[in-house]
Amino acid sequence: MQMQLVFSPAAEVDADALVVFIPEQETRIQGGLATLDKSLGGLLSEITGGEFTGRAFETQLLFKPSGLRARRLLLVGTGKTGKLGVLEMRRLAGAAARQLKAKGLRTIAFFPPPELAPSNALKAIITGVHGANFDPGKYRSDRKPDAPQIETVTLILESNMEAQRERLELAMRMGEAIGAAQNFARELINEPSNQLTPTVLARRAQEMARECGLECELIDEKRARELKMGAFLSVARGSAEPPVMIVLRYNGAPNGTGPVLAFVGKGITFDTGGISIKPADGMEKMKYDMAGGATMLGTMRALAQLKPRLNLIAIIPATENMPGGRAQKPGDVQRSMSGKTIEVLNTDAEGRMVLADGLTYARQLGATHLIDAATLTGAVSVALGTVHVGVFANDDNFFQQFAKATETAGEKMWRLPLDDEYFEQIRGTVGDILNTGGRYGGAITAAMFLKEFVDETPWIHLDIAGTGWLDSDKAWLAKGPSAVALPSLVELALAMADAQK
Ligand code: BES
Ligand code: MN
Ligand code: ZN
Repeated sequence: MQMQLVFSPAAEVDADALVVFIPEQETRIQGGLATLDKSLGGLLSEITGGEFTGRAFETQLLFKPSGLRARRLLLVGTGKTGKLGVLEMRRLAGAAARQLKAKGLRTIAFFPPPELAPSNALKAIITGVHGANFDPGKYRSDRKPDAPQIETVTLILESNMEAQRERLELAMRMGEAIGAAQNFARELINEPSNQLTPTVLARRAQEMARECGLECELIDEKRARELKMGAFLSVARGSAEPPVMIVLRYNGAPNGTGPVLAFVGKGITFDTGGISIKPADGMEKMKYDMAGGATMLGTMRALAQLKPRLNLIAIIPATENMPGGRAQKPGDVQRSMSGKTIEVLNTDAEGRMVLADGLTYARQLGATHLIDAATLTGAVSVALGTVHVGVFANDDNFFQQFAKATETAGEKMWRLPLDDEYFEQIRGTVGDILNTGGRYGGAITAAMFLKEFVDETPWIHLDIAGTGWLDSDKAWLAKGPSAVALPSLVELALAMADAQK
């Protein structure tokens, strides 16, 4: 996607469509929009005094209004003033872009609203347009190879902002890196499991690493056995597809200096549940059980472009969870890489098992800070629905740092507790730890299980089972993979690098 930043009057900008944002209950067109309104002969004042109310996501498309160089004008309502943040901006820009893309338009100009700091607005708009460009219908025969996409985005700011050009262009590059990385992750998440086996996922990671200048190491089954990754391998037993632990590294700081942030992502390319098999209804969705892994690959891709002075590791334990003659069975006891033994009560609680070894390995590679993302539990959707990502943390400081990053990124996340009492639900009888803790607090007991493998290392766990896949179309994003959490992870890494200065 092409991006450009201009400091000329909005009426003079060339594009298929110009998008402007109008708040609700605004009786008077003010600020930068007033100049545009004048060029349009008072059109904006007239329409906002009448049929257009400015309700959030309300849109009105005007064809060739006189006085406008762009071929169309799209008005987008932003709702009550004071409610416009980064999240809203990204969604509103995405909604505008989706609507214009559906009409086959390819070049759009945005005149950002004044409620947001310009650099935040630009970043959010670019990310939002990328989301709008994502098309989940890859295998549909009616999709033409040149299906319309937004190809050029022009961002319009007032001329008094020109002195800040450099800073603003940096914000745009961030939006581009994040948005493109999210689409990279969405493509992976959307792939059916017959197309994206663990082997294929590893190859895609390798290709991406080569293109972006990241180090990539693939740990195959034999090597994993040597490393004693018993929890990871136990899940892979039922599958004919070989498992692989994908390891990426980015070295942005001299070795041995500063923190080492590790991203660990669940990479179950299909989750049947194993011997504790899932019901058929809705099982097809379990192709997205590698969303955490894809999100970590995308995060590394974005950061490889943004080049923070920080050392990063990504670890994605990738395997299918299948029933089979050699599959693990309820009651089995597995020895994890850490040495702790796990009593498998339910083979469908496989995510925490592969993550256990992923987290242990990350620490062995020198991680000082751990963060994992996983479609871990149905229970997190019972707790938080499809709105908030479930966040768990063993360190208040690290949590605060991350919370700030989610704020900057404009993502909704909610912290859930990790009190010691919950451990009683997963205390083992034959082995050290049970892999399920029963129905109560299911998202929490899953997180308590992971906590056993991070020791004292500051750690954050993101349960994205409720938020990683949209079951219905949104105005700003097609139904399908969301790549949620990626923007927050990128912001966290950038902030950690900045804190080192
Ligand atoms: N991948 C699932 C979690 C999941 C469920 C994600 C629904 C998205 C939608 C995970 O491996 C799983 O099966 N978890 C079990 C745990 C239980 C057996 C303790 C669950 O949530 O039911
Ligand atoms: Mn499962
Ligand atoms: Zn799973």
